[in-house]
Amino acid sequence: MKRIISLALCFLILLFAVGCSAAEDEKSDDNLIVVGFSQLGSESDWRAANTQSISLALSEENGYKLLFDNAKQNQENQLMAIRNFILQGVDIIVLAPAAETGWDNVLLEAKAAGIPVIIVDREVSVEDENLYMGRIGSDFLKEGEIAVSWLGNKLVSLGRGTEQINILHVKGTDGSTAQIMRTRALEEGVAGRSNWTIAAQLSGEFTEAKGYEVVRDYLKTNTDIDVIYSENDNMTFGAMRALDEAGLTYGENGEIIIISFDAVREALGYCLEGKINLCVECNPLHGALLDQLIKQYYAGESIPKYTYVEEAYFTRDNLSLEFIENRLY
Ligand code: AHR
Repeated sequence: MKRIISLALCFLILLFAVGCSAAEDEKSDDNLIVVGFSQLGSESDWRAANTQSISLALSEENGYKLLFDNAKQNQENQLMAIRNFILQGVDIIVLAPAAETGWDNVLLEAKAAGIPVIIVDREVSVEDENLYMGRIGSDFLKEGEIAVSWLGNKLVSLGRGTEQINILHVKGTDGSTAQIMRTRALEEGVAGRSNWTIAAQLSGEFTEAKGYEVVRDYLKTNTDIDVIYSENDNMTFGAMRALDEAGLTYGENGEIIIISFDAVREALGYCLEGKINLCVECNPLHGALLDQLIKQYYAGESIPKYTYVEEAYFTRDNLSLEFIENRLY
């Protein structure tokens, strides 16, 4: 009998302990800011760094419960994820949009539900800018203009300022701000110079596989290229493989000048080796800024509509192994 009583007692104590810890969990969960983050995909090294930066900043220790959704490059998946976040009643929605357009309705729904939205990375083009609270990201047009102006100076320094220059343009995902603005900068640069021509515009969708495929196919019929303007590093890696296979040389000691965007660690390594001539930085570290904006919002402070991340550009001349090794992405 004694044994039965002590067993029952143990059981009661256990029940009580489980109950307490569940109540504590509930209590601590209640204090967390619930953020639904719709990430557009995982197409590049840049994207992985962006996801990591946001996940680290919006951690439980820092006061957040992060609901993460990877849309796998599909805007429809993003619309579905946002609607799910609304149904779940999250406190804030963070959206890294695949394309600029197509967001009005879903953002209206979030607004009607009283859920503020912060845009990260690319922009959204909506009729009413009040549909989102703020945007953190790059100035993509400036990135493109840096590349174009660097190319102009580089050609002059090589004594090729007036030569006919054929540029192979490898574009990122059509309709994304990164693609639209980097393309605009190049097209404006070419329009302003009578000796520059865009030989072809290929769509590499910001992935290494597609970058390789389109450049490889292009090189089967045309190898008269002076410059490759590749809108991200992963497509550049693919293009480099295609050039190697076609027996074409590139970089500081080669026939083709390579310009790449993002400046992830691997690309900077190639830049230091002289295989990529210019790496224009696109900074994916949005996490700390996002945390700051959300905390400002909860403190009742006003939020800037646009927060631009700091960015630089790199050539072999301003890089070192130490810098690359210490880089976060
Ligand atoms: O929107 C930022 C761009 O998207 C980066 O340049 C690219 O690597 C990413 O996929």
